[in-house]
Amino acid sequence: MVRDVIIACDFSSKEQTLAFLDRFTGRKPFVKIGMELFYACGPDIVREIKARGHKIFLDLKLHDIPNTVRKAMSVLSKLDVDMTNVHAAGTVDMMKAALEGLTREDGTRPMLIAVTQLTSTSEERMQRELLIGATINETIAKYAENAKVAGLDGVVCSPLEAQLVKEHCGAEFKTITPGIRFADAAADDQVRITTPARAREIGSDFIVVGRPVTAAEDPVAAYERCCREFIGE
Ligand code: C5P
Repeated sequence: MVRDVIIACDFSSKEQTLAFLDRFTGRKPFVKIGMELFYACGPDIVREIKARGHKIFLDLKLHDIPNTVRKAMSVLSKLDVDMTNVHAAGTVDMMKAALEGLTREDGTRPMLIAVTQLTSTSEERMQRELLIGATINETIAKYAENAKVAGLDGVVCSPLEAQLVKEHCGAEFKTITPGIRFADAAADDQVRITTPARAREIGSDFIVVGRPVTAAEDPVAAYERCCREFIGE
């Protein structure tokens, strides 16, 4: 897969989501379906969006004992999504089980990526509440290495961590980066942000963009601007 822009469809109803996607009459965007939409609408929303020709990143961030994750991933493998994820904090064994569950009988499977540390977790809280003594960057590098050892394809991380991940795991290991804002726009609640153009320079493989597109006056124009800046087309 080459570089692409993924739109975070953070909506709570099918109607709102499909009305939003109806606006895209040209290029069909890669779509991220998160917990809110999946829990509201169930697997049917995945099938419906897939049937409309979109690629799908199913962002459910699984984290449980290996056996439970294996079985859950086996169910998700039937949904024909293009990318899904787990928490790296579930350990290498859990990530290996996820990969096994996700792999279909014919050997094909969606991309599987791991969440390292959520961008909402500060180093201070990680150390004080979770009793993790390392720095946040050390944790991210180690979790990414674990994901690679388990056979996963990449990690979700802040664009500012993409280079760190590539240094530890190699250029082929994918980085999927949210926290994207246009140079002339508000940060909202995101802290460690960068522009689509800068994310490209840093080496992100996929950017995840929510509000800069979904809340734009002209979402299609905002999406096309992301594509121009990030993919160059
Ligand atoms: O609206 P915005 O562009 O901030 O949306 C970013 C999307 O990426 C949201 O769906 C958010 O949940 C997700 N995300 C994130 N930071 C992470 C992981 C996921 O912002 N570390």
